Parts: sequence; structure tokens; C-alpha cells
Amino acid sequence: MSTVVQDDKRKVTTHRLKEKKDRGEKISMLTAYDYSMASVIDQAGMDAILVGDSASNVMAGNVTTLPMTLDQIIYHGVSVMRAVKRALVVVDMPFGTCSGNPERSLEAAIRIMKETGADALKIEGGEEIIEDIKKIISAGIPVMGHLGLMPQSINKYGTYTVRAREEEEANKLVRDAKLLEQIGCFGITLEKIPAQLAKKITETVSIPIIGIGAGSFVDGQVLVMHDMLGINNSFSPKFLRKYENLNEIITNAVKHYIADIKSNDFPNENESY
Ligand code: KIV
Repeated sequence: MSTVVQDDKRKVTTHRLKEKKDRGEKISMLTAYDYSMASVIDQAGMDAILVGDSASNVMAGNVTTLPMTLDQIIYHGVSVMRAVKRALVVVDMPFGTCSGNPERSLEAAIRIMKETGADALKIEGGEEIIEDIKKIISAGIPVMGHLGLMPQSINKYGTYTVRAREEEEANKLVRDAKLLEQIGCFGITLEKIPAQLAKKITETVSIPIIGIGAGSFVDGQVLVMHDMLGINNSFSPKFLRKYENLNEIITNAVKHYIADIKSNDFPNENESY
């Protein structure tokens, strides 16, 4: 298999993502939370790695992303950064760390950048927290916005259903996307919105739009690694493509190991000193 990404060994920067959009090359993005998986994903040629607060769900077993703390996301960010050589690494600002107090938001943002060494941050929200995002960008920190379904606001929505089907919410989404571009965000994640709305936004703004459940007319795609590898079988939204059934593969391997121990097949002579 020969692809553009595997031929290009240069470090991916926010500038390179914009170049990809400009020449119509799709951008690949996937989450990672630990050293080993980040290493595999980076070496496979991923353009961008998201240290998502979805770690709260898939790593810690919480029902929502809300419990994720600044210290926890920094721990995940540090682990990922030890592995990654090429991909652009974006770290999520956890719930409550960027919510209407620009000075405090900047402090949290600086902590993440200093302690992880990541390349950029992702922040959920538009107009309501625009002053926070401006403050962070003015300190030289690259920010990716996140609009549409914002999991940190799940208690406000009360449902994980598709967002912005109604005109009013769709119009606000377009306004927010333009605003994020205006203040200097280098990209925007759009989550779980109608494909035609995502297309309109992608054509309206000049910065890269990365979709998750936002159709194919965007500049790139992001998925949660555990979901696309089929580690967690209980999550199967329409937008998810499962590339493996690791749950089954791992279960079989573990059962095989148990059986080998019980039957005294493991370890054998070659595996002994
Ligand atoms: O935290 C996360 O994994 C995310 C993706 C769903 C985009 O924000």
C-alpha cells in the first residue's frame, strides 16, 4: 500500500493540515491515550492524534467525559507524547477548565502545553467561551474548536442524538464556526451533525474541518480508537466503522492462555530456564 502520508516523514504541523485542506487531501485523526498505542498509530502514518477526554469513558469506565481532570489529561498527554514522532498531537481541555474565565482558562492551557509538550489543544464550545479561546490563542497556543455534539454538555442536551437538525441551532453552528476561524483557531471538529450542514461549514471556512459523524464532505475524519478497533462492543452508533473486532480477538487469546495454564501446556521446555 502506498499513500501520501507514509511517504511524507515530516512532522505534521497545523500549517501542514491547512495545506492538506487547500490541496484537497483528506486528514486522518484518531484518539490515543497511552504510549504503546500512540506509537503504533503514529508509525502507521496518522496525521493527527487526539488525546481526547473520551479517555474518561474508554480508559476509566466513566459514563461521561465530565469527570476527566486536568492532571489526568496531562498524564495521558505525557504518555502519548513520549511515543509520537510525526503526528500532530492535540490534547482536549477537560470539562470545567475553559468555561468563561479567560485568565483561569489560559492557566490550564499553559499547564497542558508545558507539562505534556503537545502541539495543540481542542476546546468544546463557540460564542459563549470565545474570550477564553482568544486569550489562549493570544498566548501562542494553537486551538482546534469543537462544535455540534459536545459531549461535555451532555447534561444540558440530555441525549447523544444528532445536533443542529433545526434551523436555529444550525445557524448558530455556522456563526460559531466562522467566529472560531476569525479569532484564529487552526481547525474545528464537528461532531454528529447532518452531512449537508458539515459540507456548508467546510466550504465556508478556510480552516480544516474534522468530522466525527458529520459525513464525508469534511476535510478529515476522527474516531475514538477503542470504537474503531472494536474493543468496546456496546457502542455502535451509525457513524462508526469498526475496522477490527479486537474484543473477540483479545477474548480468544486470553481464553487460550487460561486453558494453556490449566492444562500445564504453558510454559513448555523452550519457555523455561
Ligand atoms: O474526546 C474525544 O475523543 C473527542 C472525539 C470524539 C472527537 O473529542
